[in-house]
Order: sequence, then structure tokens, then C-alpha cells
Amino acid sequence: MSIITPHGGELINRWKEKRPEELPEDIIELDSMALSDVGLIANGAYSPLKGFMNKDDYESVIDTMRLKDGTPWSIPITLPITESQSRTLGRKAQLVKDGVVYGTITITDRFKPDKEKEAQNVYLTTEPEHPGVNKLYNRPDWYVAGEIEVFQKPPYEHGKAFYLDPEQSREHFQELGWKKVVGFQTRNPVHRAHEYIQKAALETVDGLFLNPLVGETKSDDIPSEVRMKSYQVLLDQYYPKERVTLAVFNAAMRYAGPREAIFHAIVRKNFGCSHFIVGRDHAGVGDYYGTYDAQKIFSHYEDGELGITPLFFEHSFYCNACESMASHKTCPHDKEHHMILSGTKVRELLRKGEKPPKTFSRPEVVDVLIEGMQKETVEQKG
Ligand code: ADX
Repeated sequence: MSIITPHGGELINRWKEKRPEELPEDIIELDSMALSDVGLIANGAYSPLKGFMNKDDYESVIDTMRLKDGTPWSIPITLPITESQSRTLGRKAQLVKDGVVYGTITITDRFKPDKEKEAQNVYLTTEPEHPGVNKLYNRPDWYVAGEIEVFQKPPYEHGKAFYLDPEQSREHFQELGWKKVVGFQTRNPVHRAHEYIQKAALETVDGLFLNPLVGETKSDDIPSEVRMKSYQVLLDQYYPKERVTLAVFNAAMRYAGPREAIFHAIVRKNFGCSHFIVGRDHAGVGDYYGTYDAQKIFSHYEDGELGITPLFFEHSFYCNACESMASHKTCPHDKEHHMILSGTKVRELLRKGEKPPKTFSRPEVVDVLIEGMQKETVEQKG
């Protein structure tokens, strides 16, 4: 077997074929972030986690970017409950969202986190304007911990074919004969810069695992339904079919920049990737992180300790003087030759039905985005 070992050594599987005859009386209502975490714990994407973190692991992750046993882990995976629930919950509880019971948790711990400390250490800011910190502050104030068992899969909102459990993606890579697989995280459409770094990586590995995040994102990010269409159009026309697999990463976006880059890499290792792309300001938002902080953080761990190889890319762009995609590493020209647009600017253009230049984004992708964004605007106006 050549495929990469899961994080912690073993792929976790918390799916139960059958719903138990008797369910515990207590109920924990999941928000959408918690439901996506439940699905990703159950399918092994978060291996070695078998449930929501206890106080020891939580504090260790916050302080040292490791689980209590020393395994690298950078983002707390927690299940918030209210203070009154912390007093009344028994040993087991159902995990429920919108009336659907997804599974159960066997409770081993309940604790009140220091959210300011969590914000500072994980997001590097305590400002409530930061979307990840805002989410953290708005969730209930206590955490409940314990292993979970899940008998109902979260809904396949983007078509079942795009939902691969790590066991399936690993099998799939093996069937294709891919030994080196590069994972690509994105919460955006694939613009020319993304395409450039993916294809540059693809030059040296066997396959690309395009793994867009489709869980909760901030409200001004492009909705995942629209993005999924745009990826398919792009792959159809510009990528070799036998070298790319598109599957969703059903997690919520944290916007934790550097720490989230580590988390994103570990999860892709569990999906069977040997390499992971980290470009400019990975998982960043606003000006909270330096352009390459999400690359620098990888040196926190010993070489080889993460078990997945990060591939770092410079900020890339189309250069009109070079007449090609480039970065500061490969292009000698001044910035007036470079096609660089901010995400905000691009979304603004798309909402107005205006097309960003071809050198920024493929026209076929732009058409899908404009149609999707305009539909969304009409629906919002209702
Ligand atoms: S993210 O929040 O999912 O990281 P995005 O979808 O924009 O945001 O980025 C996906 C990946 O592409 C990240 O690794 C990011 O660093 C990289 N990336 C995005 N734009 C560029 C660019 N212009 N040059 C180099 N890397 C980029």
C-alpha cells in the first residue's frame, strides 16, 4: 500500500449502520457548523478525533497546536452548549438538527472555555469583526465533549457524487494509480491564479484533488452552489479528466489563516493526499494575517511530522508584459503590468453583471458566476 497513512495512524469511522432502538432522552441541538463537524468526525476526515474535544485536548490545542498526546492539531473542534445544559445533560445525548437525529454523543466532559484566549491563540485577534471570532463569540458559552456515533449522514446538498468519505477518496486514488496527490482547498471560484498554481503542482504529482469547502462561509463569499457549477465548467474545458477529482469538503470556514492552513492540510492527508497547496494568505480574511504567515506556520512542526508535504506558492497573477501567469519569483516587471483584483472587487463586478478580464478569470467561469450571483440577488430582493 503506497497511500499516505492517516493522521494519528488509523482512519476513524464513527458511522453506525443502524439507529439504536432506544435513544437517550437528552438532546443537543446542532448548528450548521457542528453538523458539518459531526459528519467529518464520523467519516474520518478529522482522524484521529473520535468526537468533540475534551478540556485537556482543547487546552493543549490552544496552547501548543497539539493534542494532549502530542499529535499535531491546530483548530479546536468543539460542541457548544448553554450553561443550563451543562448542568442538566446526562451521560448521553442525541445530536439533532432541524428535527433530524444524526447520532449520539457519550459525554465525558463539559467545560467553560476562555473564549478570548481561544480567539487570540487561534485567530490571532479578539476583534468581534473577524468572522471566525464573531462565530466563536456567538455560539453558546460551554463546551461538551465526548465520542460520537452517527447513524444519519448529513444531507448531500451538492449531489451525492461529490461526497467522498476519506475511505472512498483513498480507494479512488489507488484505483487511478495516483501515488502523489495534491490537495487544493478553496472557498472561491477557481480563477486564473488558482488554476496556475494547481497546474504547476500537477506538473510534478500524479493527480489533483480539488476539494472546495462547501460548509458555512461568510455571507459575502460566493455561494457554494454557484461555485460548484463553475468548477465543473472549468474542469470540463481546461483540465485533463483523468488527473483531477472534484469532491466537496463539507466543513465550515473558520477564517483562521495560518492555523486553518495546518488544519486544512491534516484533513486532506486523511482524504489520501500526499501534498497540499498553500498559496497567498491561505484561509485569510481582511488584513488579519500576513501574506505568507500560513506558509511560515508549517515550520512550527518538525520536518515530516505532519505527514503531508505543503507546496508553497507565491502570490501569482497574469503579467501583461510576460504575457503569461507569473509571480514575483518569475516576473521582473512592475506592478502596472500585473492583473490583480481583490475578492471584494471581483464580487462587486459579478453582482453588477460585469466581467472581470479574461486574464483574471476564464470567461466560461465568469458566465456561470454572473448568472448565479444575479439569481441570488433577485432571490434576496424576493
Ligand atoms: S481560502 O480561504 O480557501 O484559502 P482561496 O479560495 O482564495 O481562499 O484560496 C485557495 C488557495 O489558493 C489557498 O491556498 C490560497 O493561498 C491560494 N491562492 C489564492 N489566490 C492566490 C494567488 N493570487 N496567488 C497564489 N495563491 C493564491
